[in-house]
This record gives sequence, structure tokens and C-alpha cells, in this order.
Amino acid sequence: MSGGIRRPDAGGTLLALSNVYKAFPARKSFFSAEVVSVRAVDGVSIDVPRGKTLGLVGESGCGKTTLGRIAIRLLAPDAGTIRFEGLDITHLSGEALRLTRRRMQIIFQDPYSSLNPRMRVRDIVGEGWHVHGIARGKELRERAERLLVRVGLTAEAGGKYAHEFSGGQRQRIGIARAIALSPKLVVADEPVSALDVSVQAQILNLLKDLQEEYGMAYLFVSHDLRVIRHMSDQVAVMYLGKIMEHGPSAELFREPLHPYTRSLLSAVPMLGNAPQERIVLSGEIPSPTAPPPGCRFHTRCFMAQPVCAEVCPLLREAAPGRFASCHFVG
Ligand SMILES: Nc1ncnc2c1ncn2[C@@H]1O[C@H](COP(=O)(O)OP(=O)(O)OP(=O)(O)O)[C@@H](O)[C@H]1O
Ligand code: SF4
Ligand SMILES: [Mg+2]
Repeated sequence: MSGGIRRPDAGGTLLALSNVYKAFPARKSFFSAEVVSVRAVDGVSIDVPRGKTLGLVGESGCGKTTLGRIAIRLLAPDAGTIRFEGLDITHLSGEALRLTRRRMQIIFQDPYSSLNPRMRVRDIVGEGWHVHGIARGKELRERAERLLVRVGLTAEAGGKYAHEFSGGQRQRIGIARAIALSPKLVVADEPVSALDVSVQAQILNLLKDLQEEYGMAYLFVSHDLRVIRHMSDQVAVMYLGKIMEHGPSAELFREPLHPYTRSLLSAVPMLGNAPQERIVLSGEIPSPTAPPPGCRFHTRCFMAQPVCAEVCPLLREAAPGRFASCHFVG
């Protein structure tokens, strides 16, 4: 993959991932003792601009969560570099990592399993203040209550436990916890996928309002193109551990360049502004333990040619600010 979309330390870049790799060991099959390698993230370079949202979209298992966790150093990459605010944090550890983590937070898909059932909500929300010695006791309680009100709950919610709340309310608690330390970057990993459709828009709009107020950047992970379009300034489309297309959201949705992006968009009615072409995305995603040679997407691509099975295309600038990984685009 070319480093074409990489602009480390450029004025507007908050987070820059460069050529990041991550593989996990896994059993070949349920009945097999043979261990194989799952290539979850396979040479990814992306930038998250300050105060903006990079949407990361792709089918289940393509590596979105792994990449999101690497971005905030919850997971160490096997190779590649992570720069945050111009600083190389790839190998940071101990106190330096702990301090950097204050400025990087995560919101999970399932707020319930990520909220300690034995802690009162105000202590969940204020845990970071406690850990970093910012507030304790009465001050912590009052600050937590103000934050809970800001995310659409009541001050009284602080004295309750997570199980006393609905899914949407729990996600508000998860959001309050994530923003308590005024982070510069929040990874939101499918934050509304577990919620009723009626509640999703409220949570998304809350995230947008908070972004404006706090100036945070989001790495917003979703498999839902409508949600990605609603939230993102930039979009990266991922397939089997690699970025297939990357560019400004409005342009990508108006005129997708990569055959995979075109296939994904055509499956969602009324998403594009232009009359939509119908492209059938055939077959299942191949296993990340044995990704196809050449272009990862060639086994499902409606435009595939013999060269695609042999030569892996580079991610190249196909139009100003727009990048695609395809032999026949750009
Ligand atoms: N800890 C792990 N051990 C082994 N394999 C893992 C681990 N975490 C992820 N994987 C594998 O890595 C690949 C990418 O997983 P990941 O969770 O990053 O994908 P995803 O795009 O977030 O999927 P989803 O949309 O289902 O959440 C998958 O094949 C997954 O099974
Ligand atoms: S390189 Fe070939 S297989 Fe890959 S997306 Fe382009 S046309 Fe399809
Ligand atoms: Mg995931």
C-alpha cells in the first residue's frame, strides 16, 4: 500500500496510522489443533483530522474494531507506527502511555457489558477524574452530575446502577465516561448498533453536539452506511484488513470510486443522490486466515480481470484528496 494518504504531523492531523499490521493466532477450524494467522489489519495507513470524524466502514470481520483498538493503543500493532498529536506513541508504555490515554477514549457497542454493574453511575463517569487525581468526593459527585445532565440524563442518575437504565441511557453513560477527561480523540465502535432505530438518531446527534462543544475528533466505526454518512467528514472503506477507498464523505457517497464501495452503496436503497446502479455483491467474505492473492476483493468484484488475482493494487490518489486501491480506478 502506498503512503499516499499519510500526512503525519500535518497541521490538521490528530492521529496518523502508518502501515499498521496486526495478526492473531487462531485454530484452523473448531476440530483442528493447527494454528493459523488471522490477518485482521494488513497494512493500513489512515489519518484522523483534528476535531473531525473519520468514518470507518466495512463488513463484519474486516478489522474495524482491531484498527480502532490499535489507534488508541489498547492493542499493540505487530508493525507500523501510530502518531498522536505529532508524537510517536507506538511503543509508549508506563506513565507516558497512561497520560496519553487521558486524551484518547473509546465508546463501545454494548454499553452494558462495558459498565461496571457494582459501581454507581457517578463513580463510573468520574473514574478517570479519580484515577488522575482531578476530583474526588463531593466535587467528583457534582461534576459527574453536571456531565450526566449534559448527556441527557438527570443528576439523580448518578446515584443509580447501570442495570436501572435502558440501552440508550446506558450509552449516554458510556459517552459521559468517555468525554469526562476532555479527550482529543474518541473511538466510537458501533456505538448505536445495539440500539433501537428510534434511539439511534438521538445518540448520534448527541455525539455531534458534543464534538462541536469539545472539539473532539472521532474515529467512528460502523458497518451501517447511513450512520457513516450522517456522522463522517472523511470515510475509509475497509475490506479484509485493507483500506479499499478513502476520501471526503460527501464525494465518496456521491460518486464512489472503488468497485467494493460501489457494491456496498448499491445495496442500500436511496443512499446516493444519483440514480443508483444495481451491483450484486456476490459470495461471502473470504477468510482472513487465507486472504485471496492479488486484489483482496477479486473473488467478489464485478470488474475483476485476470491481473487482479495476481497483482495487489496500491492505494493511489485517483482524484484530488480521493484514494482507491484498484487497478482500474484513477
Ligand atoms: N483477540 C482476537 N483473537 C483472534 N482473532 C481475533 C481477535 N480479535 C479479532 N480477531 C479476528 O480478526 C478479524 C477482524 O476482527 P474485528 O473484530 O477487528 O472485525 P470487525 O470489522 O470489527 O467486525 P464486526 O463488524 O463483526 O465487529 C476477525 O476475523 C476476527 O475473528
Ligand atoms: S483491482 Fe480488480 S478485483 Fe480489485 S477492485 Fe479493482 S477491478 Fe476489482
Ligand atoms: Mg467490530
